[in-house]
Amino acid sequence: MKQAYKQTSLNHRRDEEMPGAQTTPPYSPKTLKHHRSLPRSINYLLKEQRLLFILVGIFIGSTFFIVQPTLSRLSPSESRPFVPKSFSTGLTLHDEVSRSYSLGGKLGRVPVALSGRRLRIVVTGGAGFVGSHLVDKLIARGNDVIVIDNFFTGRKENLVHLFGNPRFELIRHDAVEPILLEVDQIYHLACPASPVHYKYNPIKTIKTNVMGTLNMLGLAKRIGARFLLTSTSEVYGDPLEHPQKETYWGNVNPIGERSCYDEGKRTAETLSMDYHRGAGVEVRIARIFNTYGPRMCLDDGRVVSNFVAQAIRKQPMTVYGDGKQTRSFQYVSDLVDGLVALMEGEHVGPFNLGNPGEFTMLELAQVVKETIDPSATIEYKPNTADDPHMRKPDISKAKELLNWQPKVSLREGLPLMVNDFRNRILNEDEGKGI
Ligand SMILES: NC(=O)c1ccc[n+]([C@@H]2O[C@H](COP(=O)([O-])OP(=O)(O)OC[C@H]3O[C@@H](n4cnc5c(N)ncnc54)[C@H](O)[C@@H]3O)[C@@H](O)[C@H]2O)c1
Repeated sequence: MKQAYKQTSLNHRRDEEMPGAQTTPPYSPKTLKHHRSLPRSINYLLKEQRLLFILVGIFIGSTFFIVQPTLSRLSPSESRPFVPKSFSTGLTLHDEVSRSYSLGGKLGRVPVALSGRRLRIVVTGGAGFVGSHLVDKLIARGNDVIVIDNFFTGRKENLVHLFGNPRFELIRHDAVEPILLEVDQIYHLACPASPVHYKYNPIKTIKTNVMGTLNMLGLAKRIGARFLLTSTSEVYGDPLEHPQKETYWGNVNPIGERSCYDEGKRTAETLSMDYHRGAGVEVRIARIFNTYGPRMCLDDGRVVSNFVAQAIRKQPMTVYGDGKQTRSFQYVSDLVDGLVALMEGEHVGPFNLGNPGEFTMLELAQVVKETIDPSATIEYKPNTADDPHMRKPDISKAKELLNWQPKVSLREGLPLMVNDFRNRILNEDEGKGI
């Protein structure tokens, strides 16, 4: 009975849902399911205006996705609503571009949550002479800057005016040890630069050049940051070619007193190129020629700071050798402009960054006399080992590819550092120290 009822009920439903039930072939579960489910789901959709709701939902969703990107293209500022206006000033178009390469250069478009982020930059050695001026420029451009420094030759006083600035961070750290940070660009300056300082602990100097550079290149590779190395004209050694072009391979003593610095920087260049070719890191190499300006160490043995400090202290200016060896002197703001142009350009380098104006040591002493004290005198001492006889950059490559050249002459730049030196020497004399 039960069986009969089930069959009847089945037949009944089948008859109800399929008008041609009389002509249907004998029972087959598969065909039965197929024929029954299609009209039932359509029925389900049509009931209680469900289809209408679905269509309205699809319409709202697609309108949002079509209109939203158009709006953000029309007003870029609205895509970064959490950035106070004062912080976003100074961002250039390049900053936006840089963000995409910062994420490994693989992403065409930065996720919305990150698109409002300012360019974040590490400057190793940022408490030093060149580094602190570079940090000033980057902060003024609206970038976030993290300085890493072990304060071997750098001073907090060079950065004290930035303490409290939310865009600035200072980390006491030795570049010889690894560090992990999330940044877009790395300016790697950490290294004592004057002979007095780099000869003080030569093993530490070469460790800084080799291990410090390895650590920073490793970081750049890991996070997809662009990396700039501040190399030096010392890679040309005592040059046999004059002026020096980037194509010149140099004449360096590999076992001399200066080689911890000269060969250290040459190795740092090699490492940079190997990471570039082998690991795809975007590197930039600057070969910096003698640079001077405010915040140089007072007694670091570099010729401009030596002469200026001695003239202010009314001491004789020390000339090593016969004073006929030549150097070119670049004012620090010109160098900083060159470093930024290099970092932002598309060329790896190396690029000579220096002022091609060439002076003998005696001519420099004469300019210092005229600027500070016409009664200043000269004292001669024997020359130091491996001191290059002449040094003058050929900067045609930087002129052409970076559209850069120095603007400040020695006679214009020297007075700009004299005030800074006078103040610091006065404080020293008053026993305050710096
Ligand atoms: N000033 C120049 O004329 C000149 C010329 C050629 C190359 N350079 C290069 O430019 C860069 C900056 O030179 P500068 O004149 O400002 O010298 P600097 O001595 O004033 O600055 C170097 C900075 O690096 C820091 N530092 C050194 N070793 C470190 C380490 N292991 N870890 C972390 N920080 C460390 C020092 O404390 C200092 O703040 C150097 O790499 C130098 O080789 C400078």
